[in-house]
Amino acid sequence: MSPYRLTRTLPEDTTGAALRADVLAGLTSTPKWLPPKWFYDARGSELFEEITALPEYYPTRAEREILIERAGEIAAATGARTLVELGSGSSEKTRHLLDALTALEAYVPVDVSGSALDQAGRAITAERPELEVHALIADFTARMALPETPGPRLVAFLGGTLGNLLPAERAAFLSSVRALLSPGDGLLLGTDLVKDEGVLVRAYDDAAGVTAAFDKNVLAVVNRELGADFALDAFDHLAVWDAEREWIEMRLRSRTAQTVKIQALDLAVDFAAGEELRTEVSAKFRREGVRDELAAAELELTHWWTDAEDRFALSLSKAR
Ligand code: SAH
Ligand code: AVI
Repeated sequence: MSPYRLTRTLPEDTTGAALRADVLAGLTSTPKWLPPKWFYDARGSELFEEITALPEYYPTRAEREILIERAGEIAAATGARTLVELGSGSSEKTRHLLDALTALEAYVPVDVSGSALDQAGRAITAERPELEVHALIADFTARMALPETPGPRLVAFLGGTLGNLLPAERAAFLSSVRALLSPGDGLLLGTDLVKDEGVLVRAYDDAAGVTAAFDKNVLAVVNRELGADFALDAFDHLAVWDAEREWIEMRLRSRTAQTVKIQALDLAVDFAAGEELRTEVSAKFRREGVRDELAAAELELTHWWTDAEDRFALSLSKAR
């Protein structure tokens, strides 16, 4: 059995410093915002897994459908010997790829959520003793140092997580992914597609309130890590479709006028009654937009697959 390795590429304290910087910048801005990567402590990762099973949340099922149908084609088109997965979470859908990639020697899951990553990495090592599994706790928006593994390399970025980055962040991210690839290596990208507003809003504001709990989890993270006193029930969750920018925004709306103290920043933040804090954007895509964003990062779109209802797309692009 190959040894399982878990590597933290950043010193423990970097996370705390980054959270402090983001919370200070976001909560002193108008309008207020927080970056979505802070949802994912152990509880946030569990809540995300619950979201993936909700009747309203179609992206996971749609992407799994495509992966099941196309995994063989992906294997033939890439011949990958290393699979790097960014924002891998539970690596649940990835198993369809691992089954199909017959030349695969190494799997490198990368995530900020150490608990989800370690659990998935250990489970896959136990299931596939012949595979080298090297889990990396890292921020995929920062410079990533990948372990030395055999090529060709396939980088997978599934779930539609690209849409959680703002347009300028997406461009920088795709360029940094391109820098990890040699000519002929591939990027397998999952992108949720533009569709009916009602379907989208329900997917981000489910009847059981799981997405609301996920949204408010960022406040629990700030309370625990930075000694803040957010009262989670003093905020309402909402999901809003921005038709111009073609993205869903998740927001937390303050029920009353209130002041929140954040000890680690020595900061008091005032919220007016009804004031909204943006916690996530989830952009929805069209084929031409994905093609152009990839091309701007010197990645050439070679395959585009959708589910039977055209809700979600999986694309393969190659480094030139
Ligand atoms: N790929 C999985 C999980 C998607 S949820 C799926 O398709 O179901 C998004 C994942 O990305 C979470 O596991 C979260 O912890 C991770 N993530 C979010 N922002 C990140 C960042 N900046 N760097 C690394 N991982 C990140
Ligand atoms: C991880 N990401 C693609 C999810 C999404 O759909 O944007 C996060 C999520 N937010 C609310 N529900 C799920």
